Amino acid sequence: MHKRQFLSAIACASLALTASTAMAQDKFKIGLILPMTGPFASTGKQIEAAARLYMAQNGDMVAGKKVELIVKDDTSAADVTKRLAQEMVVNEKVSVLAGFGLTPLAFATAPIATQSKTPMVVMAAATSSITQASPFIVRTSFTLPQAAVAIADWAPNNGIKKVVTLVSDYGPGIDAEKYFKDRLTFNGGQVLDTLRVPMRNPDFAPFLQKVRDLKPDAVYVFVPSGAGAALMKQFAERGMDKAGIKLIGTGDITDDDILNSMGDVANGVVTSHHYSASHNSPLNKKFVAAFEKANNGLRPNFMAVGGYDGMRVIYEAAKTTKGAGGQALLDAMKGQVFESPRGPMFIDAQTRDVVHNIYIRKVEKVNGQLYNQEFATLKDVKDPGKAR
Ligand code: DHB
Repeated sequence: MHKRQFLSAIACASLALTASTAMAQDKFKIGLILPMTGPFASTGKQIEAAARLYMAQNGDMVAGKKVELIVKDDTSAADVTKRLAQEMVVNEKVSVLAGFGLTPLAFATAPIATQSKTPMVVMAAATSSITQASPFIVRTSFTLPQAAVAIADWAPNNGIKKVVTLVSDYGPGIDAEKYFKDRLTFNGGQVLDTLRVPMRNPDFAPFLQKVRDLKPDAVYVFVPSGAGAALMKQFAERGMDKAGIKLIGTGDITDDDILNSMGDVANGVVTSHHYSASHNSPLNKKFVAAFEKANNGLRPNFMAVGGYDGMRVIYEAAKTTKGAGGQALLDAMKGQVFESPRGPMFIDAQTRDVVHNIYIRKVEKVNGQLYNQEFATLKDVKDPGKAR
């Protein structure tokens, strides 16, 4: 080989090498792990649609890198979620793990985030203690104690003193029960019984019968997003409302994407939550219109907003670090303050948890459609679970 040929061969090889490393570095990968099939598929559908909307509105380049969203179905199984997270970190070299539609899935993945120093953005799961499972977790959804305490303050001032609680028997349900019961009791009310139903395939009938027999002023309910319609149907079939028992709960029960299908039994139900599709702000109106347009008229729920805001936190952090990941990316997520479709929010730099308004809402018909109409606001609510 002549010297010149040799030199040009080396130049080509090194160019190829630079090009391939540049290509790897030119991507900013987000591993979005969600329940896309099974009973919690609506959570996955809402969050994926919101993440794609955020990218359509804000571009697929951040800090000079192309954003790649890798979406995987966890089938709502904890072991599958953990394996997918491991593959995303090791093979795909994602900068961020995101999603987590259910509490057990977030807990299963936390050690992977810690060991690999990969920021993990929890967009859905809402048990208070999740953020303590890894220093790399940041949450953009909400916590059950935030919502539970608010409705426990509202109820006794509105003729509801004796309550039976009915919750899904796992993390967020236990939080919803405990924080409601403690606060209602503190406020002079009384919890007559605490009922827990299985998280998967619940049959509410025997539990609702128990509620009927106890004759409380109201039944307070938490079930995960997607399960509210079945509960509502059985509540009506058993004539609970006609027996004078009110239904209250956290806003998971009057979930926006299925609220309209619940029918008249949902009308008038009062709940507490951080997001309603009818939240009255220009930003939210724009968000809802764009989401509905991109998804065949599907109404965004609180899961969608957790996903949309999670993407905002990721994009802005990546801009700050110029695309670098790990601890720097995590640090750039902490303390972000911004306006969400839900209203003002921030990521508490100490706890890495979301701080936002909690609204008291009543289901009403607006132009023939059922909506959660916000009528009172508690400002800047921190997770009460962190205060102890
Ligand atoms: C969780 C899931 C939900 O669908 C919901 O509405 C609230 C909490 C959870 O598993 O953490």
